Amino acid sequence: MANELIRFENVGKTYITGSVTYEALHDVNLTIDEGEMVVILGPSGAGKSTLLNLVGGLDGATKGRIFFGEDEITAFNDVRLGKFRARDVGIVFQFYNLVPTLTAIENVSLMQDLGLDIMDPLEALDMVGLADQKDKFPSQLSGGQQQRVSIARAIAKKPRLLLCDEPTGALDTNTGKEVLKILKEQSSIYHRTVVMVTHNALFQEIADKVVTVKNGTIENIVINDHPKEADELSW
Ligand SMILES: Nc1ncnc2c1ncn2[C@@H]1O[C@H](COP(=O)(O)OP(=O)(O)OP(=O)(O)O)[C@@H](O)[C@H]1O
Ligand SMILES: [Mg+2]
Repeated sequence: MANELIRFENVGKTYITGSVTYEALHDVNLTIDEGEMVVILGPSGAGKSTLLNLVGGLDGATKGRIFFGEDEITAFNDVRLGKFRARDVGIVFQFYNLVPTLTAIENVSLMQDLGLDIMDPLEALDMVGLADQKDKFPSQLSGGQQQRVSIARAIAKKPRLLLCDEPTGALDTNTGKEVLKILKEQSSIYHRTVVMVTHNALFQEIADKVVTVKNGTIENIVINDHPKEADELSW
């Protein structure tokens, strides 16, 4: 049986802006296993990014408890939470957030400057098929290539958890598929836990677990016994 990596127990998140409070998530109960590929679906405003931010300790829950392995992240102090984010969590966003004045390999090497134990930056670029583009600046790379650099940067520190928020949102179909294939490999080959938020319902076919969020709560969780490979998707 797979090892459980993440557990949400009755988690809620309320945002307070001035005198306005907004309950973005409520009654969330969820477990994610080590090495699992999880896809989070749901309409705009449903609470998907909020959920992802809680998984990665980027934001705190206002109710309930969240566990990562043996640890309760909702009980961490700021220093411990910072270490958790730095060591255990890699993040890929829709827009790549690369430093424009650094080359591909320098963008990946940045993680070393944070004092993290990372893999050889060239090896990380090779994993996403971009070793031969290492000396290009972001402006000299296509959107899909830039996203692959940002994935290389996220995985270089060998995080136990890779979080992706609309990673193919800015890409065309074929380029999006390449990116999806790389993310899927992170789970299927490297046994890294991957949690991906997307609007594209088609992506649920490659997931081990599909979580549908609606109106701030989990509407549905489906386990896929036979997930597809990214290049088997017709989209
Ligand atoms: N920092 C914040 N302060 C106040 N309200 C917020 C904040 N972040 C999100 N919200 C609100 O919480 C709700 C859920 O937002 P969230 O970003 O999680 O949605 P989402 O499902 O990711 O949507 P989308 O698909 O459009 O990205 C929205 O109504 C949003 O306005
Ligand atoms: Mg979002």
